[in-house]
Amino acid sequence: MKSNGKAVLTYGDGKSVDLPVYSGSIGPDVIDIRSLGQTGMFTYDPGFLATASCQSAITYIDGDAGLLYYRGYPIEQLAQNADFMEVCYLLLNGELPTASQRAAFESNIRSHTMVHDQLTNFFKGFRRDAHPMAVMVGVVGALSAFYHDALSITNAEHRAISATRLLAKVPTIAAMCYRYNTGLPFMYPRNDLSYAANFLYMMFATPCEEYVPNPVLVRAFDRILTLHADHEQNASTSTVRLAGSSGANPFACIAAGIAALWGPAHGGANEAVLKQLSEIGDVSQVGKYIARAKDKNDSFRLMGFGHRVYKNMDPRAGVMRQTCHEVLTELGLHDDPMFKLALELERIALEDDYFISKKLYPNVDFYSGIVLRALGIPVSMFTAVFALGRTVGWITQWNEMISDPEQKIGRPRQLYVGPPKRDWVPVNRRG
Ligand code: CMC
Repeated sequence: MKSNGKAVLTYGDGKSVDLPVYSGSIGPDVIDIRSLGQTGMFTYDPGFLATASCQSAITYIDGDAGLLYYRGYPIEQLAQNADFMEVCYLLLNGELPTASQRAAFESNIRSHTMVHDQLTNFFKGFRRDAHPMAVMVGVVGALSAFYHDALSITNAEHRAISATRLLAKVPTIAAMCYRYNTGLPFMYPRNDLSYAANFLYMMFATPCEEYVPNPVLVRAFDRILTLHADHEQNASTSTVRLAGSSGANPFACIAAGIAALWGPAHGGANEAVLKQLSEIGDVSQVGKYIARAKDKNDSFRLMGFGHRVYKNMDPRAGVMRQTCHEVLTELGLHDDPMFKLALELERIALEDDYFISKKLYPNVDFYSGIVLRALGIPVSMFTAVFALGRTVGWITQWNEMISDPEQKIGRPRQLYVGPPKRDWVPVNRRG
């Protein structure tokens, strides 16, 4: 980061403090407020709307312009030309791989796809109808009990081994969550298949029949992973960094990220989109629900619309929209009532003044929910799929944080608004 002058904060009766200003490579400048502590004051910023919690060289977002770059490469170019393995290499290592680096990376991931056999016993402890994310949080966290031979977070080689294990095993665990849920036998990974095809295989193959992956659907799934691979300092990534700042092991940190991702305002949104489409039920009801979304006295929100950062079209949504049409065409689903309903909702929202003026565009989850449903992935697995794509981002961000010499344990302060000091009163003198 480059120094770019200073900001001066004046407070109280004529006191002031100089605050350095820094520029990144692109994007807005930041004011370094670390020295504010000396004044005895803190900043107040619920939801971190104006706070940069770290410096990072991984992902750049310009929400107003609708830009998303991984390591400087626009997401549209990566989604069009690269596959998820290449994106993983790029995120983890900072550069696109050469052909031999790519082959070595992929072969390393493939050789770690199986999970410890004892781990399968964990699943038996869960109810069959448990939500896959509930199981994911538990089982991914439990990986640290199985792979504790390389858990030193100060050892770069150990960190790389844990990264490979997470990247390779999270799809296996996610597919196992679904299979346990449905009573189907677990399928061992097939290392001759691509990352995306192997996941679809573990989800949908049975030991009784040959499974032939459909290349259009594999490509669509691979794109979903690419589009979800990282997204700067969102809630789950910040959770991973905060958990990791205390020195917790990477499996525990990623489990914390999975927990944060589960919420409907974050990764649970694509699940919420499909649930809402079912609730709306029919194209004839769209007007009623749009009216509810616009009603100030109704807490109802149209799921899959709006974004905290993008106040323009989310660039991922544009790519996913195209993929959505490719998949619907491949599967001949354009006339499916649920998809018709989704497309009608999209059309109205894109033309409606309320949504236009508040810059509420369809977000990536709106389209990914539709694509995932078309791929046959059950709604309850949607957030698990998001976690699968985001794992590489979480690990990359965690690794960057551990390697940052300025890293400190995360410890925000507060504005206390509770009672001032008071003395304890015996129970017979209360009330
Ligand atoms: N439907 C109807 N009105 C909305 C919606 C919506 N989906 N989203 C925002 N608004 C309105 C909101 O009522 C408010 O109106 P007013 O100014 O009159 O009070 C205004 O737009 C601003 O809303 P906000 O909650 O202050 O905006 P935010 O930036 O804090 O929230 C959001 C962003 C994503 C939480 C919100 O748009 C939302 O709840 N969307 C639906 C859920 C969803 O799709 N979430 C997935 C987000 S992308 C996934 C990810 O990256 O993890």
